[in-house]
This record gives sequence, C-alpha cells and structure tokens, in this order.
Amino acid sequence: MNSQNQKNEINRRRFLQSSVKLAAAGIYLGMFGMPDLFGNVLTDKVAKGIPDVKLNNGLKMPILGFGTYGLSGDVCQKSVVEAIAAGYRLIDTAKVYGNEVEVGKAIKQSGIDRKQLFVTSKLWVDDAGYENAKKGFEETLTKLGLEYLDLYLIHRPRGDVKGSWKAMEELYKAGKIKAIGISNFSPEQLKDLLSYAEVKPAVNQIETHAYFQQSNDYNVLKQHNIQMEAWAPFAEGRNGLFTNEVLTQIAKKHGKTTAQVSLRWHYQRGIVSIPRSSQKAHIVENLNIFDFKLDDADMKAIEKLDLNKTQFPEWS
Ligand SMILES: NC(=O)c1ccc[n+]([C@@H]2O[C@H](COP(=O)([O-])OP(=O)(O)OC[C@H]3O[C@@H](n4cnc5c(N)ncnc54)[C@H](OP(=O)(O)O)[C@@H]3O)[C@@H](O)[C@H]2O)c1
Repeated sequence: MNSQNQKNEINRRRFLQSSVKLAAAGIYLGMFGMPDLFGNVLTDKVAKGIPDVKLNNGLKMPILGFGTYGLSGDVCQKSVVEAIAAGYRLIDTAKVYGNEVEVGKAIKQSGIDRKQLFVTSKLWVDDAGYENAKKGFEETLTKLGLEYLDLYLIHRPRGDVKGSWKAMEELYKAGKIKAIGISNFSPEQLKDLLSYAEVKPAVNQIETHAYFQQSNDYNVLKQHNIQMEAWAPFAEGRNGLFTNEVLTQIAKKHGKTTAQVSLRWHYQRGIVSIPRSSQKAHIVENLNIFDFKLDDADMKAIEKLDLNKTQFPEWS
C-alpha cells in the first residue's frame, strides 16, 4: 500500500469509528429522549431502562410488563422468575387465570424487594358485587401471598359493577390496593361508572394491537386521564401478526423483530403493554425495545394495519 492509500485507509477507519459513536449517541437519545405521548408523564427509568407512566393518583407504573394468561403450574412460576430476573417489574395476573399461587411463589423465589414490583390482579365476574368483591380480593391476596396489590381491576363489566367498585374504593382507601381500575370497559360503560365513582379508575386494560388500535377508546381515556393498557399486544400472533409484511419490513429496517416493533409502537403511543411468553429468549427480546425509535413513516404504516375489530370474537 503506498503512502496515499495508507492515509486514505486511516481516514476511512476514523470515519467509521466516529459513525459508530454517532450511532451510539442516537441510540442513547432514543432511550432517554422520548416525549410523553399518551398524556401521562413518562418519569424515571427503572430497572433495565423500563420507563414509568404516572397514573392519575400519582402512582408510577412501568410502561412495559409481563402477562401471565395461559401460563400455569411450573411453567408459570419459571416464566415469572425469568421475567423478573430479566428486568420486568410489572406482573399481570387474574383470579380466572388460576395461576395466582404460582405467580406469588415466583415473586418470593425472585428474591426481589416487594416494593420494586408492580403486581396487578383482577376481580372475576363471578365475584361481582360489594360483598363478593371483598371476598374475591382477599382470596387473591392470600393466593399471591402478598400484603397489598399495586393495581386491581374489574376484569369485565358484568354483574353488579357498582357494588364491586364500592368495595374496591374501600380497599383502595384502606391502603390494600395502590390503584384501582377496569378492564374491557367501553367508553359508554366507563361513562356509567364515572357517574357514581368516588375514585376515578386509574387504568382501563383493553385489547389493543396493530389490528385493533382502539383509536376512539384511546382518545376517550386520554381525555379522562385514565391510563390505557394493552392486553394481547401481539394479538397472540393471530392473523399472522408476527409475519405481517409491513411489520417485517419495519423490523428489518431497524434490525429488530416484529414483536419488538409491535411493543415499541405501543410504547410510542404511551400505552402500557404486557406481553406474555414462556420462552426465555422471547422474554428478553420483548424487553429490548428502548434502543430504537419508529419514525413517522413507520407509525403511519402501522396505523394503516388497523382492522378496527377484535381478534378475539369468542370473548365478546
Ligand atoms: N383483561 C383481559 O381481559 C385480558 C385478556 C387477555 C390477556 N390479558 C393479559 O394480557 C397479557 C398478554 O396477552 P396474551 O397473553 O393473550 O397475548 P400476547 O402477549 O399478545 O401474545 C402471547 C403469544 O405471543 C408469543 N410471543 C411472545 N413473545 C414473542 C416473540 N418475541 N416472538 C414470537 N412470539 C412471541 C407467545 O409465545 P411464546 O410463549 O412461545 O413466546 C404467546 O403465544 C396476558 O398474558 C394477560 O396478562 C388480559
């Protein structure tokens, strides 16, 4: 190599090194420079860089958590232990999942300070009504082996919702639950609840993913300062979500997976999501969404995937 070629080679290497530094700075900004898009303030970063949202009562809730529907027995316990070890702090369960005992065992096994966790459970429809809701809550707490819940939701708007809500308000005021909320409530059902509620729900957990974007609910919840939380953030992979062509192209562009693009999309809309997985590789993969950013074109392309209908008609 002659001396001119050597100089060119050195310059080329310097250029590559500074590009790597610039890319690293870009990733850093992507992690820490996210604006508040839903309406609640994205606050401190917690374990492994999962930001919090601030609920309407001031409680902080991680914007990304771990779902446990369909996980049972040892698989459930192992998956929750792995999730906590990987960095998840929000764990979502429900009485009807039949796994609160295993979730509780996993929490103990994880060795993590209870105060570091954000545990959600839900009141099932069989326990609707004032007296039953109080009993249902105590059962949940006993099964989980916990002293309090961070978030307790009415799982579905069935039966005596007014009685259930009154019981939950009392438990909230007594400090047994840090925040109370609802799940699967339409804007009309929410309006009804708000007509008598003394404590406004902090969260509404509803089906939300690229195929069912819930834009009306999104706006209504935002107006009321009620945090939207997505269940089935991947639509459980229904309708080919993991191999969707648009998501695949966006994933390729960012060197990510379609699962990560899906979760990043929820995050950039300010929506809490709770993906579930029983595979360690997926559990870790689903956490790694804070080092890239979807641009406007990506967000618009995903918006067009909306079919505006549930992918779980059997649950309606
Ligand atoms: N409030 C309600 O009425 C309600 C209703 C449904 C769900 N939920 C809550 O929301 C949570 C999430 O919903 P969900 O569990 O129904 O469905 P989901 O999170 O949309 O999808 C779970 C499925 O995705 C797969 N998966 C996860 N990560 C993946 C990855 N990186 N790549 C490829 N596949 C991946 C999982 O398989 P692997 O195990 O193989 O990874 C599993 O089959 C539930 O677990 C539950 O806590 C609430």
